Amino acid sequence: MAEKRLTVNQNEVPIYDIVFEDSFLPLKEELLKLHSENRKICIITETRVAPLYLEEVKKAIEPACKTVCSFLFEAGEENKNLDTVSDLYEFLIQNQFDRKDLLLALGGGVTGDLTGFGAATYLRGIDFIQVPTTLLAQVDSSIGGKTGVDFRAYKNMVGAFHMPKLVYMNMEVLKTLPEREFNCGLGEIIKHGLIKDKAYLDYIEEQKEEIKNKNPEVLKELIYGSCVIKKGVVERDPKEQGERAMLNFGHTLGHAIEKKMNFELLHGECVALGCMAALFISCKMGNISKEECEKYCSLIRWFGYPSLPRDISAREIVAITKLDKKMEHGVVKFIVLKELGEAQIVKTVTDDMMEEAILTLIS
Ligand code: GLY
Repeated sequence: MAEKRLTVNQNEVPIYDIVFEDSFLPLKEELLKLHSENRKICIITETRVAPLYLEEVKKAIEPACKTVCSFLFEAGEENKNLDTVSDLYEFLIQNQFDRKDLLLALGGGVTGDLTGFGAATYLRGIDFIQVPTTLLAQVDSSIGGKTGVDFRAYKNMVGAFHMPKLVYMNMEVLKTLPEREFNCGLGEIIKHGLIKDKAYLDYIEEQKEEIKNKNPEVLKELIYGSCVIKKGVVERDPKEQGERAMLNFGHTLGHAIEKKMNFELLHGECVALGCMAALFISCKMGNISKEECEKYCSLIRWFGYPSLPRDISAREIVAITKLDKKMEHGVVKFIVLKELGEAQIVKTVTDDMMEEAILTLIS
């Protein structure tokens, strides 16, 4: 049975809690634990999430702080950039936010990354909390303090590590989450199983019907399970000196596909495609069997991700991987499976292997 709280520690010191609830109301008590009563809070959210949850969250937290205001930006990855951050700085200055005040990210990965970056840099760093409203943000991007924005064509190229003071999840938000967004989170969840925990992967396989039907109890177990995995990784390697890089499984080709498709596919969809490609490459390297590769590619496909169009150039996607920040001395650091439930970094994946893997993703 999933618990209602996890604590992320650093060197055995508690840093922040991840809280699992079924409404926004207990957010007030969580904020008071952060001594919010004399602090201003700015809720940062985007145009798709605001009509759904902004007023509800405002109402829930008003009794717990000095004042609440909100900063709204246009939804979409294309707005995760320095222009939006500049607008945010301007807004915070106009509203006289100081170092004691607090930012609250209400939304998915774009909102969390952008708010976190604003918090890391405004007045050389102020506190922020994550209130993720997508499955992907709940299981992945809201945890671990990676913040940042895209710079021109380069994804997440400008950023900082800045830990949130709280990650607060209201599980009810999943009820309004569009199907494609839901699948984006599942891609990251399957990734967690592939790279870290074979038993968790078996659980996903066993429960796939319930997951597709969005059985709330199964989803809670799943989100909790993924948060346990992510928490463990970021506690052991907060600044990606080693183990944390394994979370980039599926991301090298995933990011390149995302760019090549002009962001028409969502980030999590591209990661799911990237995971299938990475499974194929792991199989080619002899690390997993053909049956294992087929089994987990089928599992990913079963949840219903788009394929790549027939006329896409695999070679151009490979060329884009060279612009990725996961390069070291001009060589792509590629994450493959060493076996199911364990990943490793290799620098021996050739362009031909990547091209062959991309071709398997074309419909
Ligand atoms: N999303 C990958 C990481 O947090 O390291």
